Amino acid sequence: MILFLAVAVFVGSEPCRPCHTETAEAYARTPMARSSGRVESVPPAEVTAAGQRYRIAANRLAFDQGSAAFDYFIGSNSHGRSYLFEREGFLFELPVTWYASSQAWDASPGYEKYTEVRLDRPVERNCLLCHASQVRFVRGTQNRYGDPPFADNGVGCERCHGPGSEHVRDPVTFPMVTPAELDPERRDAVCIQCHLSGVSRVARAGRRLTDFHAGERLADYVTYFVWDASHQDLKVTSHVERLAASGCKRAAGDKLWCGTCHEPHTNADRTQAACLGCHSRAHHAAEQCASCHMPKFSAADAGHGVFTDHSIPRDPAHRSKAAGHRQLVPFLGTADARALGIAYAEAGDPRARGYLLRAQPADAAVLLRLAVLEQDSRRAAALYEGVLREEPGNPTALVNLGALYAAGGRTQDAARLWRRALETNPAIEGAALNLSQVLPTEQARAVLVQYLGFNPGSRAARSRLAALRHP
Ligand code: HEC
Ligand code: HEC
Ligand code: HEC
Ligand code: HEC
Ligand code: HEC
Ligand code: HEC
Ligand code: HEC
Repeated sequence: MILFLAVAVFVGSEPCRPCHTETAEAYARTPMARSSGRVESVPPAEVTAAGQRYRIAANRLAFDQGSAAFDYFIGSNSHGRSYLFEREGFLFELPVTWYASSQAWDASPGYEKYTEVRLDRPVERNCLLCHASQVRFVRGTQNRYGDPPFADNGVGCERCHGPGSEHVRDPVTFPMVTPAELDPERRDAVCIQCHLSGVSRVARAGRRLTDFHAGERLADYVTYFVWDASHQDLKVTSHVERLAASGCKRAAGDKLWCGTCHEPHTNADRTQAACLGCHSRAHHAAEQCASCHMPKFSAADAGHGVFTDHSIPRDPAHRSKAAGHRQLVPFLGTADARALGIAYAEAGDPRARGYLLRAQPADAAVLLRLAVLEQDSRRAAALYEGVLREEPGNPTALVNLGALYAAGGRTQDAARLWRRALETNPAIEGAALNLSQVLPTEQARAVLVQYLGFNPGSRAARSRLAALRHP
């Protein structure tokens, strides 16, 4: 018989259930499987968060100037749950999050700093890529998705086992990827794709993390950078970095990985057996080793979360303090001038420019960072134009190039760019406010009214609209 190979595609977790019933049922109860989905109901409540007052009723979040629906949730609620709402196909994050540890609503992470209600934070692909599966992103936009935005809730089977269409048809001829049987680099990548963010994660030229799937090498897609002295801050997505810093991992090497202690289908904790497996003559053998050697701390970037220290310190009472940032080093993948330049730029570090100037290829990602750093407006404009030739929908380039054109008197060209920015994401405040200054009054009003439909709390847009009504 001649076999004709087909490229396997993702089919979602549902088709696996009839044949792998037990695994599917156990997995469905884990936090990873339940990490996202459509909201069924949210109990009514009065909420004050970051000085703003909200009312939750009928699955909507209401405040003085408007309201938004609780459409999708992110987070299983083992630590907390954030919410997304959809408007005209665009997804935004709600400004309040439920925190399990305090059993209370509070400002979503990063919203503490606002002094007005904001509904304009776009949900970019990365967020859904870690928390949902079969994400249906609309190319060329910042935050537009299909309906529904993801076809498979939570972390689906195929995120760890690769695309399943061929296996579903003929399971014997077409095996799935089994992480534990891969070489260590590919095995570890299965968990790392979501459990590591590093200080900066830079896609290689022409590659996107979105295209990675289990069984491949992450280093072919991205480089992860960390500060060379960063083991000290406990961050939410740093289990990978901290485990790498442990005496155990450094000595035991590839024998130790996430799957040594975590059973992914049941979320069972097999830590005690793992410790004893390698430290057979350990002291305190009757006690939980993790209770002393893997203490729990509040995480630096998780709002109210508590996380387990995966650096397995010898003496937990003597944790060393942060030594300060020195330089970015690749934690995974290769560091060429391009990757270093983008990484330093994201960290707001002046070393970025030197690397960016030497970067090969000088693609849109490089030109954009150079443009932002460029003092000379003619040169900056040329760089932004280069970005837009490669990425016509890049919102930063559209807004900033528009500003440079407008400053040089080219208001028509500027208006065209700002309109395009609003097509990639209709809640870009800068684009709407800028447009309202160069358009005739009637059109300016229409732009502001449309913008306020997305972000009704914006004081800047309201006062501009009031000024146009009562000049
Ligand atoms: C597609 C992204 C993704 C992949 C792949 C992934 N994880 Fe996760 N993992 C998550 C997310 C998101 C959460 C948080 C789930 C929640 O509570 O909402 C999580 C949570 C966890 C938790 C905590 C569960 C709890 O009790 O709160 C463990 C343990 C874990 N993952 C282990 C692993 C291991 C081991 C692998 C690799 C075999 C892996 N993960 C692969 C995204 C992923
Ligand atoms: C790089 C992957 C990644 C990205 C991007 C990401 N998360 Fe997470 N998130 C995780 C993982 C992994 C956890 C589990 C916490 C941990 O690491 O222990 C988590 C935990 C959470 C939790 C707590 C869930 C629980 O109950 O345990 C919430 C809520 C959450 N994330 C919301 C978001 C939102 C909203 C976004 C986007 C705006 C986002 N995350 C972006 C990987 C990611
Ligand atoms: C977070 C990653 C992850 C997810 C999600 C996941 N698996 Fe697995 N699966 C693994 C790992 C790792 C192994 C290897 C066995 C081990 O190390 O315990 C495995 C092994 C398997 C095996 C081989 C037999 C066995 O149990 O060891 C089957 C079958 C399987 N998984 C089916 C599924 C199905 C069906 C789903 C979805 C309902 C699923 N897996 C979701 C990580 C995952
Ligand atoms: C028609 C029944 C059927 C369906 C549907 C099915 N499997 Fe399997 N699966 C099997 C059988 C049978 C085996 C054992 C194959 C063998 O031993 O040669 C298997 C083996 C596996 C293995 C172990 C590695 C291997 O391929 O031998 C994994 C992992 C796995 N399946 C995951 C999945 C996932 C994920 C899905 C959904 C996308 C799925 N399976 C859908 C029947 C099925
Ligand atoms: C895959 C094998 C393996 C596993 C699993 C493992 N370790 Fe280790 N660990 C080692 C090796 C090898 C060393 C270095 C030699 C030594 O000190 O015994 C080490 C070192 C240590 C050290 C000394 C670290 C230092 O900085 O001096 C402690 C403490 C420790 N392990 C505790 C644990 C605990 C607790 C667990 C379970 C949570 C655990 N280990 C799991 C292999 C392992
Ligand atoms: C030596 C054992 C061990 C290894 C290896 C290990 N973990 Fe854990 N992990 C634990 C323990 C113990 C907990 C706390 C479990 C609990 O409290 O129920 C935990 C908790 C977690 C949690 C829940 C949030 C938290 O911090 O409490 C996540 C997410 C997680 N681990 C991810 C990973 C990832 C990703 C890897 C691989 C880089 C990994 N773990 C490797 C033992 C381990
Ligand atoms: C009651 C707290 C506690 C428990 C429980 C505990 N340890 Fe320890 N362990 C310590 C302390 C404290 C040290 C540091 C001793 C020192 O450096 O003087 C230590 C040191 C170690 C070392 C390094 C010892 C050496 O001589 O190199 C290893 C390995 C270790 N523990 C493994 C384990 C394992 C495995 C378990 C579970 C079976 C465990 N520990 C349970 C507190 C504990």
